[in-house]
Amino acid sequence: MGYEYILVEKKESVGLITLNRPKALNALCAGLIDDLGRALDDMEADDDIGAVVLTGSEKAFAAGADIKEMSEKDFMDVYLQDFITKGWERITTCRKPIIAAVAGYALGGGCEVAMMCDFIIAGENAKFGQPEITIGTIPGSGGTQRLTRFVGKSKAMEMCLTGRLMDAEEAERSGLVSRIVPNDELLSDALKTAQQIAGLSRPIVLMAKECVNRSYETTLSEGVRYERRVFHSTFATEDQKEGMAAFAEKRQPKWKNR
Ligand code: HXC
Repeated sequence: MGYEYILVEKKESVGLITLNRPKALNALCAGLIDDLGRALDDMEADDDIGAVVLTGSEKAFAAGADIKEMSEKDFMDVYLQDFITKGWERITTCRKPIIAAVAGYALGGGCEVAMMCDFIIAGENAKFGQPEITIGTIPGSGGTQRLTRFVGKSKAMEMCLTGRLMDAEEAERSGLVSRIVPNDELLSDALKTAQQIAGLSRPIVLMAKECVNRSYETTLSEGVRYERRVFHSTFATEDQKEGMAAFAEKRQPKWKNR
């Protein structure tokens, strides 16, 4: 089945998903979220793909959940459908790394989707915000939780209570994004970074991702213990033997993904 609201490509070992609903600034309607979930299912199942890049347009990564689609819903509609988070959480269950390449607006659900990815590379014109308060609601897909973990309570509280947007410089300073690059280099930089990850040992990459994510879910001592167990288990892989042998022999490793 094809996609209506996204473009899906394979660039070497990287799956590229481009949100493509330009007339609505990539507002995240139900159809778009469904498309995104199916694309991630396909990429997860494709052994040739080692990492994913999720991007939008130069004007908007995504301007939020689709306000027009939401406006007529009542409590029972959203409660019984578990609106809207259910579909979006597919991003957080993807085992392969996902990089968000964000230019322009990443607002409301758009900011939440970017934060569900593993890290964010921002174009110079990126703007992040949780402006739901200005339309009579609150973030509903992790915005109050993830933004607070990224940038701390003071900034997150101000943004959620006032709807103030954060530009790329502030987002980098605050730890929301890993790097800022010029807009015209955003996609190539994100693809290059993803290709670099895809060129490493697949199982070891998955383990590293799992461990960093663990830090959000548990105490420091439990997280460190978890990391140590996973670290030990890398020694049961062929790729750990290959990686260390290649270093000692001054050659490039040949990963077996085993
Ligand atoms: C539906 C949207 C939209 C949205 C923009 N559009 N954002 N449609 N849902 N979130 C549509 C506009 O209606 C308009 O359509 C077209 O996109 C272009 O938008 P403009 O407003 O004309 O563009 P501009 O003046 O450049 O302003 C850009 C903007 C503004 C600042 C990003 O569009 C804006 O404030 N958008 C809403 C941002 C927001 O509140 N997001 C949070 C949504 S709530 P027409 O047909 O008029 O041309 C949310 C809850 C998440 O995300 C909960 C998760 C479960």
